[in-house]
Amino acid sequence: MFSNQFMLSFSLFFSLSILILLAPNLLPPRHTSVPISPQDEIDDITLFNHALSFSGSPTSNSNKPSRFFHLSSRQKPIPKKIAFLFLTNTALHFAPLWNRFFLSQPTNLYNVYVHADPSVSLTHQYGVFRGRFIISKPTSRASPTLISATRRLLATALLHDPNNAYFALISQHCIPLHSFPYVYHSLFHSKTFDKSSQTELNVETPSYKSYIEILSDTPKHWKRYAARGRFTMLPEVPYEEFRAGSQFLTLTRRHAHMVVKDRALWRKFKVPCYREDECYPEEHYFPTLLSMKDPNGCTKYTLTRVNWTGSVNGHPYMYKPEQVTPQLIHLLRESNHSESYLFARKFSPDCLEPLMHMAKYVIFRD
Ligand SMILES: *[C@@H]1O[C@H](CO)[C@@H](O)[C@H](O)[C@H]1NC(C)=O
Ligand SMILES: *[C@@H]1O[C@H](CO)[C@@H](O)[C@H](O)[C@H]1NC(C)=O
Repeated sequence: MFSNQFMLSFSLFFSLSILILLAPNLLPPRHTSVPISPQDEIDDITLFNHALSFSGSPTSNSNKPSRFFHLSSRQKPIPKKIAFLFLTNTALHFAPLWNRFFLSQPTNLYNVYVHADPSVSLTHQYGVFRGRFIISKPTSRASPTLISATRRLLATALLHDPNNAYFALISQHCIPLHSFPYVYHSLFHSKTFDKSSQTELNVETPSYKSYIEILSDTPKHWKRYAARGRFTMLPEVPYEEFRAGSQFLTLTRRHAHMVVKDRALWRKFKVPCYREDECYPEEHYFPTLLSMKDPNGCTKYTLTRVNWTGSVNGHPYMYKPEQVTPQLIHLLRESNHSESYLFARKFSPDCLEPLMHMAKYVIFRD
């Protein structure tokens, strides 16, 4: 099974590489993104299979104990953890702020993992980030490498700790909007945090949902669907099933497992785009996959606030130090979908100082 699938994707990939090398004039000239190397693909498949075999039950964030944990009745249950997955291709600008976020929190409530592009040598390996760097591969914009990096983080976190129950993706431009206890309580205990589940009153709804934006009719939806060729996504992904959404997701363990397990959609989404300006595979792969597999297990919105007003070249608005005020933090928390946004992006690196000044009395005061 493994070797068949593996040989199939390998030969698919190999023939694609040959095609690109030997017959460039068969392809449109704007084919710019670098394909993922066969060796990187092999490494990933090995890691993902390992994670699927040894990470315990995919539903271990239900109330049933994982089959890897045979607790005697006298032992206290182990608390669920949040896995914070940092994905960066620069320094972690807000590492001191995140260190403050985790400061004096019980370490049995969270884990930190960092995927840093190999081209950056990080000097911020201190505090909560020390020793948390996973084996990383090159990442670049407008390519499926950001999907791979996210899946690598998910697989590593699944494998590393069976108590990781939520998996939150964070970038170097993201900041927390609340204290750790507020985030933890919102995800695991609050009955009122997710406004969408209050109205549904559906007994079939699983107790924990993934917070992932899922949109079906965005501007340029067709252009982005056809970015690899008009028929390339078929038959696995018909146009009606193609979704868009922010890459900044917070997944349940069940969904993290689902993402690491997927082979069929990955085979499509890893095909390089013809046009770089319509190519944002990481904003389509995760929402499309989860919307096809388990739409009711998703809130369909993200917990990471972003400002798209006046965006340039697909980059959202980036806040500057003079804009960092207590009023901005309060404004960014406001959400129509949940009691609050938990994270926000993007902030320029020099926002660190004003953010640190207001950390204790504004950001971490809930
Ligand atoms: C979003 O960005 C625009 C500039 O493009 C700015 O005028 C506006 O105040 C920002 N909105 C928020 C909520 O920060
Ligand atoms: C909430 O919804 C209203 C009405 O659709 C909209 O004007 C507002 O911008 C939304 N607020 C946020 C924070 O998205």
